[in-house]
Amino acid sequence: MEGSGAPPGAEPATAPIPLAQPLLGEAEERAVVEVLRSGRLSLGPRVARFEQLFAARVGAGHASAVASGTAGLHLALRAVGVEHGDEVVTSPFSFVASANAAIYERARPVFADIDPVTLNLEPAAAAAAVNERTTALLPVHIFGYPAEMAAFEALARRHRLAIVEDACEALGAVHADGVAVGARGHPTVFGFYANKQLTTGEGGMITLADAELKERIDSERNQGRAPDMDWLDHDRLGFNYRLPDVACALGIAQLARLDETLAARARIAARYREALGGIEGLQLPCADANGDRRGWFVFVVQLPREADRGEVVRALAARGVQSKPYLPAIHLMSFYRERFGHRPGEFPVCEEVAARSLALPFFPAMSEGQVARVAEAMRVALVC
Ligand SMILES: Cc1ncc(COP(=O)(O)O)c(C=O)c1O
Repeated sequence: MEGSGAPPGAEPATAPIPLAQPLLGEAEERAVVEVLRSGRLSLGPRVARFEQLFAARVGAGHASAVASGTAGLHLALRAVGVEHGDEVVTSPFSFVASANAAIYERARPVFADIDPVTLNLEPAAAAAAVNERTTALLPVHIFGYPAEMAAFEALARRHRLAIVEDACEALGAVHADGVAVGARGHPTVFGFYANKQLTTGEGGMITLADAELKERIDSERNQGRAPDMDWLDHDRLGFNYRLPDVACALGIAQLARLDETLAARARIAARYREALGGIEGLQLPCADANGDRRGWFVFVVQLPREADRGEVVRALAARGVQSKPYLPAIHLMSFYRERFGHRPGEFPVCEEVAARSLALPFFPAMSEGQVARVAEAMRVALVC
């Protein structure tokens, strides 16, 4: 099953088009079977191998494999010293896990508004949210577009803040200075859920420069056990955030096809751009600018202001096209309103984007015919 998508043009014109679909093949099957035959299902040799290959691919000094992106964010915030009562400045336009991770340590996620073009945390807004309780910045490379790290690094230097980067959606992204996302030295967290550029089903990776921090992260993911300690010896509080060997084997196989996956995603994004051009009021994902390069993860459009998003979702579904409002504003989720007293109007750019955004089907094996069908369904939904 090398490449699980149907050949271009082969799909029936009415077959449902899913939002996402991983690119898996014989290499992944072989890798998983090898682990099963080896009998080493956890804490085996594939963990370090996956970490080394991933660090080399990104250009980072070290990498630690973890059970999920969420687990990675939690361990990374602990590693940089975030604790009870601290404030962590982050984006309200993200998957909820980036803010939740601060709450796990009884720190407070403090939101600041986003840039209307890149949809990433806006550095000046973030700077205005910093106060004496702030200990860390948590920028998110949303939808795979690189956050403005040079500005966040300057802000962090001015106020002696730590940085943890949420790159769960951004494998393959590169900053204007040529440094890949994940290679700047700060703990940077990637996610390997099934819709990601590289998937292990569930999983994540933290890349970083500091070997001591890696040691702490590796111990805390393994119940607080240092590498030289025996089973059932624990010298600090830890968690079970390990990534099993089957997942690491999948990750190694996925890494080998990463260039292929990223190129396919970029190609599909370019096709979407052509096919959806000219629909009045429809805003497409921002193009790469100023030397920054997106690692394509999702294709999220902003619907025209007057469009009824629920109606559009229904009209697409009637033509077999899955879509999803993506992402909701974190500060307006009920838990965040109740816990922190957030109200509509606090972050107007984020709120408008969250109200208009819609993710369209986007996966590496998507055919030209499927892109054309989605575009046609969008035209019918918005123009007719
Ligand atoms: C921006 C962002 N942060 C964090 C996560 C959490 O990753 P995981 O689902 O692997 O825990 C995700 C995953 O969807 C994400 O998109």
